[in-house]
Amino acid sequence: MLFVQKKSGFSVCCIGAGYVGGITGAVIAEKCRDVDVYVVDINGDRIAQWNSDTLPIYEAGLDAIVKRTRDRNLFFTTSFKHAVGSSVIVFLCVNTPIKKYGADRGRVYDLAYTEKAVIEIMKHTDSDKIIVEKSTVPCKTAEKIRALVEKTKKHKALNIEILSNPEFLAQGSAVGDLLDPDRVLIGSFPTDRGSSALGKLSALYRNWIPQEKIIASSIWTAELAKLAANALLAQRISSINALGELCEKVGADVLQLSGVVGKDRRIGEKYLSCGIGFGGSCLEKDVCCLVYLCDYHGLPDAAEYWRQVLSMNRHQKERFTRKITEKMFSSVSGKRIAVLGAAFKKGTSDTRDSPAAAVMLGLLEEHATLAVYDPVVSREEILDALGAKKGQAVSVCDSVEDACRGSSAVVVCTEWDVFRKIDFERVYSVMEKPAYVFDGRNILDRKKLAAIGFDVYSVGRL
Ligand SMILES: NC(=O)c1ccc[n+]([C@@H]2O[C@H](COP(=O)([O-])OP(=O)(O)OC[C@H]3O[C@@H](n4cnc5c(N)ncnc54)[C@H](O)[C@@H]3O)[C@@H](O)[C@H]2O)c1
Repeated sequence: MLFVQKKSGFSVCCIGAGYVGGITGAVIAEKCRDVDVYVVDINGDRIAQWNSDTLPIYEAGLDAIVKRTRDRNLFFTTSFKHAVGSSVIVFLCVNTPIKKYGADRGRVYDLAYTEKAVIEIMKHTDSDKIIVEKSTVPCKTAEKIRALVEKTKKHKALNIEILSNPEFLAQGSAVGDLLDPDRVLIGSFPTDRGSSALGKLSALYRNWIPQEKIIASSIWTAELAKLAANALLAQRISSINALGELCEKVGADVLQLSGVVGKDRRIGEKYLSCGIGFGGSCLEKDVCCLVYLCDYHGLPDAAEYWRQVLSMNRHQKERFTRKITEKMFSSVSGKRIAVLGAAFKKGTSDTRDSPAAAVMLGLLEEHATLAVYDPVVSREEILDALGAKKGQAVSVCDSVEDACRGSSAVVVCTEWDVFRKIDFERVYSVMEKPAYVFDGRNILDRKKLAAIGFDVYSVGRL
């Protein structure tokens, strides 16, 4: 080990056993055998799942790591006492959702979970610690945490340092992203103690990440960097979707377009897929927060710029649903529609803010009945994502063929690789006629489908 040995009682802990806390804890345990890693959550069911054979989240490679490390040096628990008490570094990985009540609802993060977590940490803190913000938080949250820590610490002499170490992992490639990140950013307060804490966290990361990838910054830059990265990703997706809409009008093909512009090294090829918009728990809320920050600091033009990224995204989801209705004789009422994919993107079981759910809700509004299949998302999660509106109109199927049997249309909402390999001749034979395919992710071979007999529609292409 580069820094404290387990012999001397070195432990770290992650508060929050979600996507970030659970996977971060698992990767640290895998790469730092001599460090005990605790992952703590207030949700006992979630902890029970992490301790079972069926983990609460799906990510490639995660099962194997958890199997190797669990109860060796990785421990999932609801007990703060031992986990926090024995840890030198405490990663705050709790959820920071958009606030859904009171003033500024729908515009700012709800920091209630963060505050409760810090208070709980301090109740169990009798020795010096480093508290690391991994959750995405608005700028200046470290200042608030520092003030809260000072007011709640048991002894004046305790030294509790705050760092910002935003998590850049992407769901769908989370384990790979943590094992081999593009960069690790650590922001600290400009004091000797801040630098010392930064050195200790860097040393932990250096167990598997080369020094040149570990970037030090001011704490405010680190907090803003996460918002900035997500805003730029969201803006790219909205930009290509806006171009895709124009393609449909002028007869251009967005796949060819993005292929060509992406070859320009100044632009690059990633995040140029035209589809049904971005989703997930982060992009929308982080752009919302950026809009709020700009408004708050008196920058209405900057706020409006980022607001447009969000409205383009909403427009794209609605536009796709409208297209389905229009092309199917202007009515989907009473028609069974097979929806392929519920996850917000491939590689994850997460349905939070999934564009698939938005499309499904739009179709339910038009009185369609839905037969949904996702290779990874559970029946309960699919129904949860649709909330109260689902009624009797939604059935969750065990295979593509089950979903398509008796359906008038196939709607691809998630770009799972298995959907590229569907036997569409067979699917066509079990569907109502006319049979439609709406490819919301541009992953299917349109010529082949048309030759079988389908009416085929994609996004950003005629
Ligand atoms: N999911 C992502 O892809 C991703 C990527 C980068 C950053 N982030 C950010 O990381 C943070 C966590 O995201 P997530 O997706 O892991 O959230 P999540 O909802 O999957 O998990 C959060 C967990 O924290 C737990 N929790 C809440 N309050 C707690 C408390 N006081 N003590 C202990 N546990 C508590 C919840 O029960 C939940 O299990 C958010 O700020 C998010 O924006 C998420």
